[in-house]
Amino acid sequence: MSPPPDDARPAATPPSHASLARLRAIVGPSGWIENRADMVRFEKEERGLFVGRAAAVLRPADVAQVSEILAECNASGIAVVPQGGNTGLVGGGIPHATGTEIVLSLQRLNKIRGLDAANDTITVEAGCVLADIQNAAASSDRLFPLSLAAEGTCQIGGNLSTNAGGIGVLRYGMARDLVLGLEVVLADGRIWSSLKGLRKDNTGYDLKQLFLGAEGTLGIVTAAVLKLFPAARETQTCFVAVPSPDAAIELLQRAKSQSGGSCVAFELTQRRLIDFVLAHIPGTVDPLAEKHAWYVLIEFASGDIGGALKDMVERLLERALEDGLVLDAAVASSDAQRKALWKLRESMTEAQKHEGGSIKHDVSVPVSAVPAFLARATALCEAMVPGVRVCAFGHAGDGNIHFNVSQPQGADRDAFMALRHTMNDAVHDLVAELSGSISAEHGVGQLKRDDLVRYKDRVALEMMRTLKRSFDPNNILNPGKVVPGID
Ligand code: MLT
Ligand code: ZN
Repeated sequence: MSPPPDDARPAATPPSHASLARLRAIVGPSGWIENRADMVRFEKEERGLFVGRAAAVLRPADVAQVSEILAECNASGIAVVPQGGNTGLVGGGIPHATGTEIVLSLQRLNKIRGLDAANDTITVEAGCVLADIQNAAASSDRLFPLSLAAEGTCQIGGNLSTNAGGIGVLRYGMARDLVLGLEVVLADGRIWSSLKGLRKDNTGYDLKQLFLGAEGTLGIVTAAVLKLFPAARETQTCFVAVPSPDAAIELLQRAKSQSGGSCVAFELTQRRLIDFVLAHIPGTVDPLAEKHAWYVLIEFASGDIGGALKDMVERLLERALEDGLVLDAAVASSDAQRKALWKLRESMTEAQKHEGGSIKHDVSVPVSAVPAFLARATALCEAMVPGVRVCAFGHAGDGNIHFNVSQPQGADRDAFMALRHTMNDAVHDLVAELSGSISAEHGVGQLKRDDLVRYKDRVALEMMRTLKRSFDPNNILNPGKVVPGID
């Protein structure tokens, strides 16, 4: 069984009064929070799984201040926990309970530094809210395709540092695939500025990739050059009932091969999530007259106008209906209908909270193994806890399933949640057997750090430790996160 996250692990030495005074002088009064009441929101995450304590919260105004802060912390041995919009799900941005670490909030670095339409790039600071970047791209008739439920709150620095996924990965890749250049402050305060908008640059190691998905353990991302894409002219969004996950994966293959690359999202869900959303999220409606066991939400987008996409989608669905891969379908005929379909999908996590404790698994398997994973993981959890309500949904188009298990109705929440590690281990063992990953898109943070020892290749872990020691010899950058065996 995995050990529980060790939130009492001491992280570096407590800051001295002199160090704190120097840090305060760097950011000035508007960048400094040490009042308990104001610090609390930086010390815990939304689910309440991780609650820590910081020595102070620093909100630098620019990269120069971030650099000075890290130089001071490195010299004085003060641990730094970088934080963006604090929407993470693995405790990566939350300090330990020691009260010795500082939280470094990037929220004031929120400028869009430039948009080069002819180069299809946008240069943004780490604290920019994801939705603001999407909107800036849209105002130049471009698309920034990273999209996830928290996009109105999460910040791009956090998205990049956790290599966020979301609903567009099938077509556009993960956050790391959308980055052309980075500005990073290293542990000793040096600034690595490589804000180049190049799609070709074969001058050695791709260093930026080291910081993407590193959750602030190797350096602090302060700005990035991101790829933009043509804005969609026509979109077709379909809510489709399918008889089984096998049928869904067959439909995915057809959607990909028959749509000329226009299939941008393919989200699978079982009925239970739809019931939860309809019960708990006001203003949601069932798009289909009959209830079905499984659904997919598919979106196609194209730069063309003139109805070709609509015709293609109609043909695809008609043929799939004839072949028994589709039982029923609703296709949005207005932007309001499209938004209503996406609201069903985006409200699933929120709706599930109303049903008591939930044990989450953010996992991926090869797309071809999704049906087997769902069947076997469901059987395993139902055998472990009779009456559990499996809520499987997610980005089936890229093999990422959110296999979130709600407690039996009326059961004791704490008793159910006490089974978390046992259930996680059983599901993760299955994922490993299917050559999958125990963290598809939410990262490692504190939650899954020690699980890496069980599931990640030993040589890969040795390389991770070597990188960590080399980039952060004093272990001040988000210590105790991501890399097991470095304390
Ligand atoms: C989502 O795709 O809605 C989230 O990543 C799922 C979750 O919060 O578990
Ligand atoms: Zn997701």
